Amino acid sequence: MKLDILLGMQWGDEGKGKIVDVFTQRYDVIARFQGGPNAGHTIIFDNQKYILHTIPSGIFHENSKNIIGNGVVLEPLIFQNEILKIENRIPDLYSKLFISCKAHLILPSHRLLDAAYEAYKGKEKIGSTLKGIGPTYTDKIARCGLRVGDVQRSDFGERYLKLKNQHLLLARNLEFDYKNHQIDGLSFENYEKLWMEAAYSLKKFNIVETEFMTNQALDKGHKILAEGAQGTLLDIDFGTYPFVTSSNTTSSGVCSGLGVAPKRIGEVYGVFKAYCTRVGSGPFPTELNDDTGTYLREQGAEFGSTTGRPRRCGWLDLPALKYACMLNGTTALIMTKTDVLSGLKNIKIATHYKYKGEIIDYFPFDMSFEAVEPVYHTMEGWNEDLTLSTDGDTLPEKLKQYILFIESYLKIPIVVVSVGPDRLQTIFMDKQSNY
Ligand code: GDP
Ligand code: IMO
Ligand code: MG
Repeated sequence: MKLDILLGMQWGDEGKGKIVDVFTQRYDVIARFQGGPNAGHTIIFDNQKYILHTIPSGIFHENSKNIIGNGVVLEPLIFQNEILKIENRIPDLYSKLFISCKAHLILPSHRLLDAAYEAYKGKEKIGSTLKGIGPTYTDKIARCGLRVGDVQRSDFGERYLKLKNQHLLLARNLEFDYKNHQIDGLSFENYEKLWMEAAYSLKKFNIVETEFMTNQALDKGHKILAEGAQGTLLDIDFGTYPFVTSSNTTSSGVCSGLGVAPKRIGEVYGVFKAYCTRVGSGPFPTELNDDTGTYLREQGAEFGSTTGRPRRCGWLDLPALKYACMLNGTTALIMTKTDVLSGLKNIKIATHYKYKGEIIDYFPFDMSFEAVEPVYHTMEGWNEDLTLSTDGDTLPEKLKQYILFIESYLKIPIVVVSVGPDRLQTIFMDKQSNY
């Protein structure tokens, strides 16, 4: 059996959580392969809203197994709070959640360092979620990190102290006032106490070598869906560096983040919004700082699931989407938040960029505001409310033209159109290709 992948094609928040939840009925296992609590994946059903940060979005389905893979970075206290919010709803939670012993731990001092680096960068700051993602992956690569499996060792406390002291030295060198720094409203010492308890309570969970689980499941013919966090344009290698996250958010991250070989990969589902958003700093060629941008933010409730920050909004960017399809080997596309575009007289789509006096259709090295100017194709909009639509055939003609235009440009079918945040507001287009 092959392992399928579902991931974000833009700058994150494309609606991955919602779609993974809908897709889980077709899978036996859902597995996160990278990122950590910088992610915020929203799932809405039965008038209840849940935001998951570390736990895979398949957790609400009865027969699903959910894996937090070795490529993920886990913050025990954030994870514990996440568990507390859902454990009443999921009686078999502990038996269906598996954590890789090789996943790296985010320490309170990683979070402190995240803030220290951002402060040091000043105006150039990334706009990090400050969950300690960058410093934790830094330690993983520098070979001095702590892993989930280490909480079972008798010398965990000493190892923790050694790494924390290393971090405090660094913070001092960055001239960061760490003594007065608060984490989630608590002093460092108070946060650390709670964190340590949460770290030890990880022992209650199934801590396993998840690479054997995934490979054995595939050998038995079970179906696995790998759930991406963040988005392609935040990838550490291919995103708008340095305004990126610290992991490979693209499909290549699945092999290293779950221990599966490339030949095991099947479908790659790319989720994109019908327009674009970005939270945090960095290039965004089609950004709208006008009434249309405000309209998209209000209609789409574009405020961060993890930090509550307003998201920057703009038109769909096809050169960027084409780049994302190439990098991921995307086999099928899923368009979300389509309902948000209803009511706009005209809708623009960037098809090219003006770049150094030339017209190009690729994603160049220099994506800065000064270097890249989008070239737009304008289409007529539609007024119909889509949120009750259930059938692709009955969608407004103008929307069908919008879909066809995107499919023709990318040469990849849009197989699902999402028309609202609820599980049920999902249309399967039931076709292989329209272009
Ligand atoms: P993720 O990080 O990719 O899982 O996305 P987020 O959950 O951070 O952000 C997506 C937001 O859009 C959430 O508030 C979802 O509830 C919401 N959402 C998802 N799909 C749709 C859709 O088709 N229409 C509308 N209006 N909202 C959606
Ligand atoms: P999901 O999985 C949107 C952004 C941050 C910042 C940059 C680096 O919900 O789509 P980090 O905390 O990794 O140091 O932040 O990346 N970012 C996200 N933006 N959705 C996310 O996750 C994000 N995770 C990180 O805003 O610009
Ligand atoms: Mg999100």
